Amino acid sequence: MNIIKEIAQLGATVLRQQADKVTDVSSAETQQIINALKDTLASTQGVGIAAPQISISKQIIIVASRPSTRYPHAPLMEPTIMINPSYQALSDHKEKDWEGCLSIPGIRALVPRYTDIEITYTDINSQLVSMQFSGFIARVFQHEFDHLDGTVYLDRVDDNKDIFAESEYFKIVNA
Ligand code: NI
Repeated sequence: MNIIKEIAQLGATVLRQQADKVTDVSSAETQQIINALKDTLASTQGVGIAAPQISISKQIIIVASRPSTRYPHAPLMEPTIMINPSYQALSDHKEKDWEGCLSIPGIRALVPRYTDIEITYTDINSQLVSMQFSGFIARVFQHEFDHLDGTVYLDRVDDNKDIFAESEYFKIVNA
């Protein structure tokens, strides 16, 4: 059975809260949240989702980069469920690139992000996993991680002139 949840929209309190750590990875409740996140993400053109976006203030994200109409140049990866994630930048180097968010429809912006990070998370089997990400996948991770901290990508924009209507963004990427 598919459990497709409504996506919380900018202005909702849950998107501005610090999410709670997951204390019982193997519980039925955690499994239900993960299933709802997976099904909800699969019903969209998004490349990631965070539990607060389905109004659940817990530290669970899915990073699922894939080419789509929203992100035509995204690399393909297996959707990865990350519980209680954290990261460290491997250098101070940041690059600006386009982001959007299912919670902020119709808008895209250029957002500076670390290009190289090391991440740690607990997987669905309660194992601690560390790996390095760079480029677009590092960007998606940082975007989803921010949702657990009550931050949205527009908070990270350097200059309001870097905020575009999605229709203008598509003219640029499809040019
Ligand atoms: Ni988002």
